[in-house]
Parts: sequence; C-alpha cells; structure tokens
Amino acid sequence: MNLSQDRIIIRQPDDWHLHLRDGDVMKAVVVPTSRVFRRAVVMPNLQPPITSVQSAIDYRQRILHAVPKGDLFTPLMTVYLTDNISTEILREGFQKGVFFAAKLYPANSTTNSALGVINLENIFSAVETMEELGMPLLIHGEVVDDSIDIFDREKVFIERHLHPLLNRFPALRVVLEHITTEEAVEYVKTTSAKLAATITPHHLHINRNAMFQGGLRSDFFCLPVAKRERHRIALRRAATSGESCFFLGTDSAPHLRESKESSCGCAGIFNAPNAIESYAQVFEEEEALDQLEAFASVFGPNFYGLPVNEEVISLIKKPHVIPSQFQLIKGDKPFEYIVPFHAGETLNWSLDKNYN
Ligand code: DOR
Ligand code: ZN
Repeated sequence: MNLSQDRIIIRQPDDWHLHLRDGDVMKAVVVPTSRVFRRAVVMPNLQPPITSVQSAIDYRQRILHAVPKGDLFTPLMTVYLTDNISTEILREGFQKGVFFAAKLYPANSTTNSALGVINLENIFSAVETMEELGMPLLIHGEVVDDSIDIFDREKVFIERHLHPLLNRFPALRVVLEHITTEEAVEYVKTTSAKLAATITPHHLHINRNAMFQGGLRSDFFCLPVAKRERHRIALRRAATSGESCFFLGTDSAPHLRESKESSCGCAGIFNAPNAIESYAQVFEEEEALDQLEAFASVFGPNFYGLPVNEEVISLIKKPHVIPSQFQLIKGDKPFEYIVPFHAGETLNWSLDKNYN
C-alpha cells in the first residue's frame, strides 16, 4: 500500500457480497464491478434461484461473457439454500469448484427470498456437510417475525438463531453478511475466529433518517434496513479498526427505477459504480486510510483461505459528482435506468483508470 496526500495505491480489492442479476441488467452492472474488483461473491437470489450445480455453471458463464475484454474478474458462485437442499448437490458443487459458498436467506426476509429457509432445523444435515467440507455459510441475518420490530430483526437473529447454530457447528465457517448494528459488531468481534462479517458502503454512510429526508426516499431502502446513528458509528469503527473479522462486501443490489418507485418498492442499493470511492471517503473521514487496503483487499482472502491479489488499483483525490442515473442499454438503445448510491453527491476520490 502506498499513501500520499492525493493518491492511494492498494492491492486490487474483492467484493465479498454482490448482486449481479441476469440478462441485460447483469451485462450492464458487471462492468463497474469488474473494472475495480478482481473477484466477487455472486449472490444466488435470481428468479428462479441458483439451486443446482448446472445453473451455477451456466450463470457463471453468462457473467464471464459479459465482462469487458481486458478486465480480469472471477465470479465466485453461491448456492441458494432451501429447506430441501440435498447434501449431494452441496458436496458435488463444492468439490467441483463451482460453489464457493452457500447462502442462507430466511424465507421472505428480503428480495427473492420466498424460496429460502423456513426452518433452520431443516438444513442441519446440509450445514453439517458444509462444516465437514469446509464450505462457508453466508447468512442474511434477520428474523422473519412480524412481532419483532424491523429495526431489531438482526439482533434477534443473532440471539435466536446464529448463536445456537455456531454452538452446534463449531467448525463451520460463517459470514454474517451486511451487518447493520452495534450488537452484530460486538458479537462478530468476540465470538469465534470462524465468524466474520461484511460491511456495505451504504451502512457506513447513512442512518435510518436517510429514508425519510424530506419525503419517502426509496433509494435508501435496503435490507437489513439502516439503523440509528449509534449503529452507523459502530460500523465505521469496526470497518476502520484493522480487525480482520470485518471486510468489504458491497451488497450492491440493482433495481430498475420503476421497481424502487412503486407502492411496494424493492429493497436494495446499487453502489457498484462508486463503491471503492465510497469506502475511501469513509476511511478518510475516520482518518484511517492506512486501514483501507486491509479491509478491502486482505482480510477477505485471509478469511476464505485465498491468496491476496497481486495487481493494484490507484485512487486519486479528485472530487467528482456522481451521475444521477446509471443507464441501461439494449442493442444500442437506452431502455431503463438505475439510480446509483450517492447520486448527485460529490465524492473526494476517483479511480485512476490509467494507473497500473
Ligand atoms: O437490500 C437488499 N437487496 N438486501 C438483500 O438482502 C437483497 C438485496 C437484493 O437482492 O435486492
Ligand atoms: Zn445481498
């Protein structure tokens, strides 16, 4: 890592939590990711979800076809757990190097999770197989329970489900994805070396007020939903702390404008076009730019037992305004757009595309 007043050079980062969708949207949104990140863990919540080895192979192939020539990018595929997922599929997919990890969505917890897991006990034998194989379990950690306030669902998930699960499967490698609370920070920091967490750029920048600033702002709605300011502060401390159990995962989750702006808008924030600049801004504000490389490029590979990237990227201090729209093109015609995170705001750091 090389740091000066106006330039940051770090090992190429990886995105350990990413939604790419499929079809024309995927072809467009993979571009800003592969420009910056060397690898990304691709979420399986498509419609239908990725539940077989073959569907993951085919999806990986479509992604690789969409990566611009000249970008080196490795999609790491995940399998979507259902109540009746077979241990043979997990074993085959993992041993063939197709499934990098499995993703647990509690049923109806978030976008395209209707086929997720209703009862954790139903996947105990699958989890046991994963523990034996060394296959990581990636968790959307929220309870689905109308009697629990939406702002408490992560905390309750940890108490009710995560803690018993880790006790039952002590050798299992687990990532609690996109953490949003001080309680999650404390839990991950103090519980087990086999447990880690990803932190998104948006949860470092916004608290729950953002969703109600001057009106109802669906662009800031994601799941788990942003929490109170004290939680945002705890997340910023965790990300910049140099603790190896916290690493980068953008949870970039593109939704077309019309799906966000509706009477029942989708959860998800599309941050891929400026993710690394967004993190850099936070680390600068926290006077911790010297920790950016570890968070973005080292702790993730270390946790997963992968080599760190040898390539580097460079950011230069050059304020730039984030465009208000990310245009999608079909053939050669614009057809829809997505509003990116930070739309209309100015960020201090820019990727230096000419550097390598
Ligand atoms: O905000 C979110 N969007 N959270 C998730 O867990 C899923 C994601 C999506 O797929 O849109
Ligand atoms: Zn996600």
